[in-house]
Amino acid sequence: MRLNSPQINLIIKACMKASRSLIRDFGEIENLQVSSKGPGDFVSSADKRTEKIIINELQKAHPEYGILTEETGVINKSNLKNRWIIDPIDGTMNFLNGVPQFAISIGYEENNEIKSGVIFNPIMNEMFAAEKGNGAYLNNSRIRVSKKKILKDSLLVTGGPKGASKIKDKIFDEYVNVSKNVSNVRKFGSAALDIAYVACGRFDGYWQRELHYWDIAAGIIILKEAGGFVDFFEEDNSHPFKKNILASNSIIHNELKDLLNKKDIE
Ligand code: IPD
Ligand code: CA
Ligand code: CA
Repeated sequence: MRLNSPQINLIIKACMKASRSLIRDFGEIENLQVSSKGPGDFVSSADKRTEKIIINELQKAHPEYGILTEETGVINKSNLKNRWIIDPIDGTMNFLNGVPQFAISIGYEENNEIKSGVIFNPIMNEMFAAEKGNGAYLNNSRIRVSKKKILKDSLLVTGGPKGASKIKDKIFDEYVNVSKNVSNVRKFGSAALDIAYVACGRFDGYWQRELHYWDIAAGIIILKEAGGFVDFFEEDNSHPFKKNILASNSIIHNELKDLLNKKDIE
């Protein structure tokens, strides 16, 4: 990988360290103590342990950096110049069910702009990483988005709704509408990996409502550096961390966005 900023090296080190305990926990899935954090939103002890290892590792190098993380929330709130965005396990439901489709996701921001990010699936040993201006990689190989031009031929991925979602019907209707206009749609259960898979051309596009910033922060830079395009639709300013994302190979982007904006589609 030709990525060498101090921040990306730190992220990779933190990911590798945290993944060792995560792999052990995944192997002992049946003994994990699981606590409920609300409907549809489960958090395991492995989640908390992983986050702690990552934070410790990053703070050893930069105690002054801001952090936004799923389990702990905000650390060093006033530092917006340098900030880590962490999702210790993205794909918790898969993890808890013994499905190896989950990842550690860590992004790094400077002055509110994502500069680098890593998404690591420790079971498949797949590390997606990117740095602004230096490209996106899967392990040691450069990755690029697909060249698919025709929406009808596209393979998309999506996720949700969450168990507690108040717009389930809207999300299901949207799923049906989009499905009728593309080749097929997958649901894999990890937003971070969904975007990473668009970045390396496995999928042509990804959309999802009601995400949090930590689900997608690292994915945004990985996709952009792989030549993809990402934006947000129907932004809701009352929920600063909630995002409705549309990520694609860029070629099918506008057509897909039109489809999402249409109420009734034949
Ligand atoms: C979830 C996953 C899932 C998405 C949910 C997220 P978590 O994150 O990314 O794919 O559908 O909206 O909350 O809870 O596993 O970190
Ligand atoms: Ca997540
Ligand atoms: Ca998580």
